[in-house]
Amino acid sequence: MTPSAPRRLLPLLGVGGGRSPKTCEYRCGNACFHPAPNRSDNAYFGDIFQGVLSRRTALKGAAVGAGASALGLAALSPASADRGPDRPHPSPRPTFRSVQPNNRDAVTVPEGYDHHVIVRWGDPVLPDAPEFDFDNQTAEAQARQFGYNCDYVGFLPLDDDSGLLWVNHEYTNEELMFRGYSGGADADPEWIRVAMAAHGGSVVELDRVDDTGQWVLADGERPFNRRVTLDTEFRLTGPAAGDELLRTEADPEGTRVLGMLNNCAGGTTPWGTILSGEENYNQYFVAAPDTEPYARYGFSTGRDGRRWDRVDERFDLGRHPNEAHRFGYIVEIDPHDPDSTPAKRTMLGRFKHEGANVNLTEDGRVAAYMGDDERFDYIYKFVSAKKYVEGSRRHNMTLLDSGTLYVARLEGNSPEEEIDGTGALPSDGEFDGTGEWIPLCTDTESFVEGFTVAQVLIHTRLAADRVGPTKMDRPEDFEPSPVTGKVYCALTNNSAREPGQADEPNPRGPNKFGHILEIIEDGSDSASTTFTWVVPIVCGDPEDESTYFAGYDKSKVMPISAPDNVAFDKHGNLWISTDGQPGSLGINDALHVVPVEGRFRGELRTFATVPVEAETCGPLITDDQKTVFLAPQHPGENGTVEQPTSFWPDGDFPRPSVVCAWHKGGRDIGS
Ligand code: FEO
Ligand code: CA
Ligand code: CA
Ligand code: CA
Repeated sequence: MTPSAPRRLLPLLGVGGGRSPKTCEYRCGNACFHPAPNRSDNAYFGDIFQGVLSRRTALKGAAVGAGASALGLAALSPASADRGPDRPHPSPRPTFRSVQPNNRDAVTVPEGYDHHVIVRWGDPVLPDAPEFDFDNQTAEAQARQFGYNCDYVGFLPLDDDSGLLWVNHEYTNEELMFRGYSGGADADPEWIRVAMAAHGGSVVELDRVDDTGQWVLADGERPFNRRVTLDTEFRLTGPAAGDELLRTEADPEGTRVLGMLNNCAGGTTPWGTILSGEENYNQYFVAAPDTEPYARYGFSTGRDGRRWDRVDERFDLGRHPNEAHRFGYIVEIDPHDPDSTPAKRTMLGRFKHEGANVNLTEDGRVAAYMGDDERFDYIYKFVSAKKYVEGSRRHNMTLLDSGTLYVARLEGNSPEEEIDGTGALPSDGEFDGTGEWIPLCTDTESFVEGFTVAQVLIHTRLAADRVGPTKMDRPEDFEPSPVTGKVYCALTNNSAREPGQADEPNPRGPNKFGHILEIIEDGSDSASTTFTWVVPIVCGDPEDESTYFAGYDKSKVMPISAPDNVAFDKHGNLWISTDGQPGSLGINDALHVVPVEGRFRGELRTFATVPVEAETCGPLITDDQKTVFLAPQHPGENGTVEQPTSFWPDGDFPRPSVVCAWHKGGRDIGS
């Protein structure tokens, strides 16, 4: 048994998706039960770029690929052979003993570590908030208390011993919140208002416990604490602000909107603001016009779901069709100013934004990497026109309003026939290739025929369909490495990709377990319009032949499925949280960490597991490397108030919460 990863046996599962039925219904409006909304005839990579490759080469390649895989020769491939012991190892490699796969109704961290539940759904955030009272919830109280389903977690230190925690509240699980809930059509209108108030975000001030890595809610006056809800006013900024598609009866100027919806992952900017992605916002609206601009985003023409239209008519698109266009953006929030008006940055496009993460370009501008989390949707990048100015927050908070929006096309370098959908490596030993950032528009010029700048930024999916980007397997969170500048994206899964639709950047069909994409911009410059890429990790049970861990010995790695949120520690190790291990591997979701450089590239360990039916959100490793923040979202999501399946964290009913973990001996995280 190695300290990194003793072998474990996974339960045998039937074929099934990675997500539970409740997650599907409440988070993304059952997206997977509908056809993928990308019906463009936009080719899969293999269709356009490789169809012309010679059958001779292809057949030969296929034989080599299959043989190599069957004989377990992946570790001898050229790509992995050069990862010998003489390659420099740039950073401390995690050495803790992995948490074993489990189905515990608990957060589990490695030996030597401890954890603490910092803040739970319903805990007071604003000074005058009442204590949580499960059976007597009101919208007024909820708007002052911590919201539901925590996702992105950002941490902004105020000094060594205090800081601000930002948390997205992505969506609600009504059947776990209200006794006898049976759907939006019959729900008590006050329940609907409570659920609305449980969306949005929170800022809470934290204090460090002594000189440890443990953080707790700050006592006393907490002037930065804030709740962002559907009553919070946002500015629409950038080139599309004021466009006629954004104007409504309540906002004839098209520049102000109340609230943000379904905020999933996010990022923290170098100037100390939070970027947060409005993701499956379509599900809150009813009665959409039966036209392509609504269908491409998955809006329902019916009257179903949460039925927020019953308490606020703007969610009835039959009456207010443009309200749909006012959600689906990257929002920028300044946690340091509780009175500030957050902004929806239209320049970064409108789609099912997972999140946005920023890298500086060689010349000091800002690049933001973004995934559109839908089966067969795209990867995007924004590059600012103006440069970042250290210390000038006022200037930096204008950077996301002008620049260029791109969408990605990825081309593999192996013959099409070697990518057979099974995950067998091609004969060159890696799923890899080159890519191009295709410009969609700048703030003043559209590059998509028939689309104005504002139309590109509001109907971004439709504009992107015209320029031939690569259909990806649900691109989720991005993160640039602080050590190398390489950029990483989690592609969570795609049950709908058929074997014949596999291509080198999405090499399995169906893709039940997901994979990780590494992007290396040409010249190591995030302003570049060309790049190379590789798939370093093809997820799953390492005993499954279709998996790949950068050529590392698979007997020494842990299982992983449905990668979702990603983060880096200061040493350049990639942290990956999951959303779907229960459904795909039969084990609880987890937080994993893996070196991505040097001889231990691919050595994946499990740092934490989360409670029953929860997904792992966050994660965040503090700059001092003393604390991991993670956010177990939707614990017990398949239960109801009457029949709970999780009792975490307090033994009574499940409450989405934010947790910190630290080394009990004061060592750095990972040691
Ligand atoms: Fe909200 Fe893409 O996960
Ligand atoms: Ca290749
Ligand atoms: Ca996510
Ligand atoms: Ca997720």
